[in-house]
Amino acid sequence: MTCCHYVVVEGNESAFSVDPSSIAFGAGVLAEAGEHLRALSCRRAAVFTDATLAALEPVETVLRSLRAAGIEAEVYMDVHVEPTDMSFRAATEFASAGRFDGYISVGGGSVIDTCKAALLYATYPAELRTYVNAPIGDGKPIPGALPPHIACPTTCGTGSECTGIAVFDDLKLKAKTGIASRRLRPTLALIDPTCTRTLPSMVVAASGFDVLSHALESFTARPYTARARPEKPSLRPMSQGRNPWSDVGALEALRIAGKYFVRAVSDASDREARESLSWGATLAGIAFGNAGVHLPHAMSYAVAGLVRDYKCPGYPQHEAMIPHGISVVVNAPSVFRVTASTSPERHIEAAAALGADVHGVGPGDAGACLSGRVIELMRAAGVPNGVGGVGYGEGDLDALTRGSIMQKRLVDNAPMPIDDAAMRSLFRGALAYW
Ligand SMILES: [Fe+2]
Repeated sequence: MTCCHYVVVEGNESAFSVDPSSIAFGAGVLAEAGEHLRALSCRRAAVFTDATLAALEPVETVLRSLRAAGIEAEVYMDVHVEPTDMSFRAATEFASAGRFDGYISVGGGSVIDTCKAALLYATYPAELRTYVNAPIGDGKPIPGALPPHIACPTTCGTGSECTGIAVFDDLKLKAKTGIASRRLRPTLALIDPTCTRTLPSMVVAASGFDVLSHALESFTARPYTARARPEKPSLRPMSQGRNPWSDVGALEALRIAGKYFVRAVSDASDREARESLSWGATLAGIAFGNAGVHLPHAMSYAVAGLVRDYKCPGYPQHEAMIPHGISVVVNAPSVFRVTASTSPERHIEAAAALGADVHGVGPGDAGACLSGRVIELMRAAGVPNGVGGVGYGEGDLDALTRGSIMQKRLVDNAPMPIDDAAMRSLFRGALAYW
């Protein structure tokens, strides 16, 4: 049987699930937060944000709407940009002490992820590792329903508002890892694209590359039909592989990124570009929330976790930190050069959607074509030149490989098997692109 070009193999998975995200998208939508939370029977809300955003308009708008709806609110602004196990624990203490019946997160992926973790551990107290993905954590399922969470993203990236994933740095292991469960998906996402107007250019570049990579990885992931059929539907993984539903969002997100990404980075006054990229981020978030990402993200966990002294303009400068989108995109061209052999036509289609000239490009050139287009965009946006550009060299290849191969959920979602040697070779190919 075939479904939209997916050929079902006897004994393998024959169905995919569409996990909907509840979204309200448009200018001014943050002012609806109070009404939505009241409709969810909440009376006392925790508002998660970070120290920079706490004084800015989006948070003020949300707090005003909560007051108007008669909802008591307490603000938590100690979110760590790129959260850690320590910052997750601190946020959990706040959530546990506050006896909240509803949660709102206003910020980028770090804020939304911290809110997810805090409400989870405040509701079902446990050691942090309990719900963290195996093999780093115990990978236990979340025992039951979670309180309402309204996510209000303020960057044009991450897509965290559409997914059940919360990512953090394990400081001892020097590796990023995460919690993944459908139950963690926010109850509602309020996406106001006008929030992106004031973002620094490098924040748009980093979050935009995250969007682009979510879309590319969802579009090129292992097909859902390549997995063995689970014993029962509840065991169908959230990272189920690419499927006809994720293809729709991924491809449109790539078209939007191809058209608007460079404009959005280079001109803060280009409202059309920034607001369009915000819609692209939403579509890519829906796609990867239903398909899962793969190698560029698996590799990013080690790239970000092992950081030594890299600091990125537009981000906090008090400590070394590689923004998520940058830690992802530095790997992407090397990965797509290699994965192209699994589905050359998809890689060419993705390159075309991103604005590459694919005239006369044959299956053998698919990887070079797609990675070439991503490299062009990296250079135009002024991001670091590969893994070498954020401080790594030949001597780091083993550590980077170890930190990535353990991201089993993501590595397994790649369109081809990847062992240690293959991962090492991907990192070697990512050291420099120009
Ligand atoms: Fe991401």
